[in-house]
Amino acid sequence: MKTDTHCQMKFILAVLFFSLLSGRVMSVDQPSLKQVYKPYFLVGCNYRPDWAEEGAMKNLLVQEFNVITPSNIMKPALIHPRENEYHFEAPDKMVELAMKNNIKVVGHTLVWHNQTPDWFFKDQNGKQASRDLALARMKEHITTVMRHYKGKVLGWDVVNEAIDINDPAKALRESSPWYRTVGPDYIEKAFEYAHEADPDAELYYNDAGIENPLGCERTVALVKNLKSKGLRIDGVGIQGHWGLYFSPEQLEKSILKFKESGVKVMITELDMGVLPGQPPGAEITYTKEWTQKMDPYREGCPKEILNKQALLYGELFKVLMRHSDVVTRVTFWGISDGDSWLNNWPIKGRMNHPLLFDRNLKPKPAYDTLIRITKRPSS
Ligand code: G3I
Repeated sequence: MKTDTHCQMKFILAVLFFSLLSGRVMSVDQPSLKQVYKPYFLVGCNYRPDWAEEGAMKNLLVQEFNVITPSNIMKPALIHPRENEYHFEAPDKMVELAMKNNIKVVGHTLVWHNQTPDWFFKDQNGKQASRDLALARMKEHITTVMRHYKGKVLGWDVVNEAIDINDPAKALRESSPWYRTVGPDYIEKAFEYAHEADPDAELYYNDAGIENPLGCERTVALVKNLKSKGLRIDGVGIQGHWGLYFSPEQLEKSILKFKESGVKVMITELDMGVLPGQPPGAEITYTKEWTQKMDPYREGCPKEILNKQALLYGELFKVLMRHSDVVTRVTFWGISDGDSWLNNWPIKGRMNHPLLFDRNLKPKPAYDTLIRITKRPSS
């Protein structure tokens, strides 16, 4: 009896200690995101190496999420910066942390037009590599990286952002160095090499904007093409970089189309920005008027905007729960507003508020909504 009380006291003290550390006020019986969504799908976040150390970010990550995707450290520029030079230290540390805490890992990303060093596409004279040379390098990269993590990674974003989601005349992003060096079948080759490298790993195609009609249609065609050639593709990752304009109805239609084409669906980089957009690269004069219009929430996000965002996150998750037969994972691209990439894109140095925890790591209305909507009404 005495031991039981002692144990309970220890547990309560541990919870209080964690709350203080994370700046989060939570009750002892407050369930986490990963617990409430367990009957539906995995809930994840991205991973940055500075979060691996003990501290509030690591605690929050381990407490709330059961799957992680590295933001950058598995991209070719970081893991394979020069030919014959691999940097596995940082991703190894991530995988170790994940395994210790029963968290799954998604590999991101093997073949992408961005964050891929130039040497992949150059021959020894600095001229454009031949198709064969580029393919040999692709195969070597995929094989080495996937074999290194064999058995430790749930699945891989094999190809990222290959589709042109805007141009009615072009189905693929033709400016990609992979497209220019290899040709359109570089996607097929990537999936072929990935399956050879690790036949047990799940293989995904990941892209932004593919919930919209054109992007969805093109992704379905890509999936069908891969399948018709006998290639393995397990899932489609809809990145989910959305804002307050987001339409859950359109998303639902595309989930059904992907389901019909025989793949799982994942939301892989979710955030819900609250700032107005501006074409990347547009010239900016940082006047007071500009700040008021384009960066209006520097001192904090107004309650009505946070509530609107919460409502929208809630609508989104209701759609996802309804389709949990095909939706297997939802990953947020960041834990707290302070660490979102959207503070620096499309304009550097703004204060966006797209995630579930604020800059003090306190849960926002959106977090509370996501927990609340999973509760069955008491009868
Ligand atoms: O590491 C350097 C640091 O040394 C330097 O001081 C600093 C100066 O700006 O830059 C740091 O590198 C940045 C890196 O993120 C790490 O923070 C790069 O400039 C920056 O370009 C890079 O941005 C990443 C972006 O992909 C690049 O395209 C974001 O972190 C990452 O979240 C983002 O993720 C992508 C997905 O992989 C694919 N889908 C879109 C998504 C958002 O762009």
